[in-house]
Amino acid sequence: MKKISFSIEELLKKIPTPFYVYDQNGIMGSVKKLQKAFSWVDFKEFFAVKALPNPYILKLLKDNGCGTDCSSLAELYLSDMVGLENEDILFTSNNTPLEEYQKAYELGAIINFDDIGHIPEFIEKIGIPKIASIRYTPEKAYGSGIIGNPLESKFGMPFEKLIEGYQMFKDAGIKRYGIHAMIISNTLDIDIITKNTETIFKAVRKISKKLSIEFEFIDIGGGFGIPYRPEEKELDIYLLGKNIKELYEYYFVDFKPKIFTENGRYITGPHGYLITKVLHIKESYKTYVGVDANMANLMRPGLYGPKNAYHHITVLGKEGKYKKYDIVGSLCENNDKFAVDRELPKIEKGDILIIHDVGAHGHSMGFNYNGKLRSAEFIYDGIGFKMIRRQETLKDYFSTIEGGDIYV
Ligand SMILES: Cc1ncc(COP(=O)(O)O)c(C=O)c1O
Repeated sequence: MKKISFSIEELLKKIPTPFYVYDQNGIMGSVKKLQKAFSWVDFKEFFAVKALPNPYILKLLKDNGCGTDCSSLAELYLSDMVGLENEDILFTSNNTPLEEYQKAYELGAIINFDDIGHIPEFIEKIGIPKIASIRYTPEKAYGSGIIGNPLESKFGMPFEKLIEGYQMFKDAGIKRYGIHAMIISNTLDIDIITKNTETIFKAVRKISKKLSIEFEFIDIGGGFGIPYRPEEKELDIYLLGKNIKELYEYYFVDFKPKIFTENGRYITGPHGYLITKVLHIKESYKTYVGVDANMANLMRPGLYGPKNAYHHITVLGKEGKYKKYDIVGSLCENNDKFAVDRELPKIEKGDILIIHDVGAHGHSMGFNYNGKLRSAEFIYDGIGFKMIRRQETLKDYFSTIEGGDIYV
């Protein structure tokens, strides 16, 4: 288990639980590793904003050579807010409202079209995209995990549809092409990532030959995994880079597309912690440790199940294995559990629990069921802690309520 590089006790002296805290140097370290692994090619990481949609983080990543990958209007605005524009922004949406396409177009973003059905309306009502890119979902994928069977996927297009789509773009006079695919999620197995990348490379070759077009970029998506469990090993990113380099050299001799990734989890996942306090211990058929965070602060275990979305938990200042506990929040939902049957040291009321690896798809998935409020976010920059989002208040929560006197 990676060592935490700052003192949580320091933060606890001033800040009420629950809160998120991120490690800036850790995030930078992951970015640098990824960039180094792909330094053999014209490469760019477009951070998946949905993983950690905080302007401080996006600015940090921008200053270190990353763009953003957005999937919604708010994420486009966030990218705009930190000064990103044009081809430093990808827009990978699905079931997309026209106004979101409009904003992406105004920013000059590269749009990865999820469905070729969007193309005619886009061209008619918005304009001609400067680069044509379509999301590819191959019929057969390797190890697709949480993201699911491609044949059940609502994302992207099968190969034949890609041909139709690129033909539409070609007929519209477009000269620049890219392709996108996001087939895996949280994959630690480099063979799986390599095989899926080969599937994309093969598709590019075929489309290129069939339509006589060259591809400027290949976006192999995000989904690089992180070791959530202490027994799991880190992804060997350098070996992955080397494997993909070999494939690239085999498939691309005449034209040389750039390689893009849009990782979220790999960049920020391991460098975020949710800090929460034990409020109550309940002995029932099992022992339940009730903490002051709940599923509204971290939805992954509730959404995917505590086994699929394992988050390691430690008790501040305590070690060892005393007994099995269920660690639960206070929502009126029985899946509001951060861990089930987890062996932990002896837990008492007032103990501080650290929920690990919540730096991606953690705070951002938060919601307000039961009127629960979203927690604050802090970052440790190597010198001190900075608040990068304040805690929500009841005033925020009630701010959208109207008196019922507005007729539509
Ligand atoms: C289109 C797209 N790109 C990138 C990502 C980032 O995935 P990860 O954080 O697992 O790398 C996601 C995740 O949902 C996604 O939907």
